[in-house]
Amino acid sequence: MLLRRSERDSVLLRLRDGPQVVEGRGVVDLSAFVGQAAGAEVTWAGARYRLLRPSLSDRVQHLRRKAQIVTPKDAQYLLYLAGIGPGSRVAEAGAGSGALTLILAHAVGDTGRVFSYDRRPEFLEVARRNVTAAGFADLVEFRERDVATSGIDEPELNAVVLDLSEPWAVLESAHSALVLGGYVATYTPTYNQLERTVQRLRSLGFEEVRSLELLERELHVGSGGTRPEFDMLGHTGFLAGGRKV
Ligand SMILES: C[S@@+](CC[C@H](N)C(=O)[O-])C[C@H]1O[C@@H](n2cnc3c(N)ncnc32)[C@H](O)[C@@H]1O
Repeated sequence: MLLRRSERDSVLLRLRDGPQVVEGRGVVDLSAFVGQAAGAEVTWAGARYRLLRPSLSDRVQHLRRKAQIVTPKDAQYLLYLAGIGPGSRVAEAGAGSGALTLILAHAVGDTGRVFSYDRRPEFLEVARRNVTAAGFADLVEFRERDVATSGIDEPELNAVVLDLSEPWAVLESAHSALVLGGYVATYTPTYNQLERTVQRLRSLGFEEVRSLELLERELHVGSGGTRPEFDMLGHTGFLAGGRKV
């Protein structure tokens, strides 16, 4: 549940009986709120909070970060590029902080499955905690493995999503793991990585190969003074995708 006092003051936690540790708040006991429905107003530590059912963006904003996470604009387009929706079987690497894992699990839903690989156990641990805290543990299987050297195990995948430094080294294994018509999508920060990735996609026979960058500009909406914000995130990553046919 999300305990929300204002846009800048909210806590994401599981309402349960007894004391629990909440990051930034210490040990708290929220037993009195167990059973309260979403929308209820409660008093906690002398302040009024609204109980809300957490949205996907609440879950991503509150997750514990260890690796750099994928931005929402890129994550959502990765879903589109890779054709991911309810019921999809998806492998991703690396898990990192698990931000993309949450977004994938949210997209595939109860009838889908996400297999999330990382070669570093400490990242897998953080991703697992974040996915469990978000309530998606049943949809995700974590695997500790270097996918560049050992590949992807799961057969009959609808999509493979790669957010790691050497996606080209994983594409052959991704191709074998995909069903006919399945997609691969990659996310890399530099042109050099993008170029190598796209060349490998083409040489492996992937079709419908695309590469792109998304720029997002927030708008400052006033009364008569509506304009773009002065600050803008100049660069996040490049997206590429291809389809096995
Ligand atoms: C940028 S982070 C991924 C962030 C993640 N998508 C998120 O949104 O939280 C990259 C991750 O890829 C993992 N990684 C890099 N190369 C890998 C490989 N060959 N096999 C498995 N994991 C790898 C790293 O350990 C790191 O955790």
